[in-house]
Amino acid sequence: MSLLPFYLACEKPKINEFETVYSFGESILGITTVADGLDWDIVWGPDGNLWFTEQAGRISSLNVSTNEITQHLVLEDTYRMRTSGLLGIALHVSNEGQFFVFVAYTAKKDEETRVSRVMRYTKKGDSLDDPHLILEYPAWSGHFGARVVVSPDGKLLVATGDGAQHENAQNWQSPNGKILRFNLDGTIPDDNPELGSPVWASGLRNPQGLDYSDKGILYVSDHGDATDDEVNLIGRQGNYGWPNVEGFIDREDEIDFASEKRITEPLVAWTPTIAPAGIAFYGSGPISVFNNSLLLATLKGSSLRVLKLNALGNEVVADSVLFTQAFGRLRSVCVAPNGDVYVGTSNRDWNPFGFAKENDDRIIRISHVDRLDDRTIKPAVTINSSDDVVSRGESLYLDYCSSCHKPNGTGVENIFPSLLKAPLVNSPDKISLIDLVLKGKGEMPSFGFLSNEDLAIVMTYIRKRFGPQASPLTENEVQHQRQNASTSHIEN
Ligand code: HEC
Repeated sequence: MSLLPFYLACEKPKINEFETVYSFGESILGITTVADGLDWDIVWGPDGNLWFTEQAGRISSLNVSTNEITQHLVLEDTYRMRTSGLLGIALHVSNEGQFFVFVAYTAKKDEETRVSRVMRYTKKGDSLDDPHLILEYPAWSGHFGARVVVSPDGKLLVATGDGAQHENAQNWQSPNGKILRFNLDGTIPDDNPELGSPVWASGLRNPQGLDYSDKGILYVSDHGDATDDEVNLIGRQGNYGWPNVEGFIDREDEIDFASEKRITEPLVAWTPTIAPAGIAFYGSGPISVFNNSLLLATLKGSSLRVLKLNALGNEVVADSVLFTQAFGRLRSVCVAPNGDVYVGTSNRDWNPFGFAKENDDRIIRISHVDRLDDRTIKPAVTINSSDDVVSRGESLYLDYCSSCHKPNGTGVENIFPSLLKAPLVNSPDKISLIDLVLKGKGEMPSFGFLSNEDLAIVMTYIRKRFGPQASPLTENEVQHQRQNASTSHIEN
């Protein structure tokens, strides 16, 4: 009995426990890092743990009360290159009590062949057994998607990328650029649009977000090309237009195309692009400003967007941009049954927009805070921005380097060297690069006036963008080199 008040006191989140506290509308949001050194998908499990995939091939779960991580399986044949690798995960307990784990990943089938696969495993103890192939399809060269989700009526839905072969998306015979629908054993449901075909909907480019609402509506996020990132409401046999229709049906050629094929327009489209990734429906919970919204993790936008839905769930009535640049690129989002939201960052991926901090990539918890003290509360919405999607790396590059090396890094022949695959950019030896940028050389000015952080960000940016093999570079490395330089200056 005497435990009760103590227990209650522990249960209430105290504001001081949070790393940062934000306000959004009437809600106060507390931020906690629950794990670091990870990436890709996160999903709340029926076992009460947070499950996650890592692009390199590992499937694990995290007990969010103890912070204990259990590794369940490593897919040894994972092929990770840029955006391929182990991607989406979905969990489901069958009527017979089997704990199924579905994953989408890119595999090395043999020395030459790469394939995309959807697999089902069955959890036994801590390990995942009984590998069961649901689907194997061409990996192609890019736009791998992919997310998986189990519908309220017990079907497996898979969102696949077009493989960077645009024509796949409108080709009903190709599994690429589609929403596919399977029974949980991989057979094809009798009520799919076409007998014997898993295709449920078509016309997608590179979907990286898929979730059901509490009304059983399926939503997908899809990366557009240079314009028109989208969130779509998926209907049976829907055609979302790619590559012939981007965003809304507004160009003349799009109107022509849509007069021949029935195209469903998105709920929202964004130009300039934000690179939308994970999506999670928030029904009703303690973070009341999120109620009846889609939470959307964005990579390029480096924000969490809150897309408020109308009562029917078929219209987005407000689009708010939270935490811009606060955690970097965001890949995944999921909602726990208690209403906490978990978000996975993606700053260590291949993309030059990312700048990894020491503890990236991490999983962050967003919790409702109902007790306030005098701690500083920051506004979660800082800019009303669809235009501020430029990363700090890119903006530093544009401000300080592009006048000579040009925005695309090609330089000017015989005057300013190209940075594309330049030895200093690509080299594992970072010291010469840091030295050059700190001190300058000939026509190349010295940038010692920039802070260590800015220097680390801009050099990481050029290495990721222009040097395919280059590793990132940290503030400490810049600081170290700055000190070395000043010591050697005094000594000499
Ligand atoms: C005013 C023109 C100018 C600006 C601005 C400039 N550079 Fe340079 N950069 C040069 C020149 C010229 C060289 C060749 C230096 C030499 O070797 O004599 C060079 C060389 C380099 C190299 C070596 C390339 C190689 O071939 O290995 C790198 C890397 C580099 N610059 C990065 C940067 C970065 C990062 C910035 C911005 C922070 C920047 N530069 C800004 C003119 C410029």
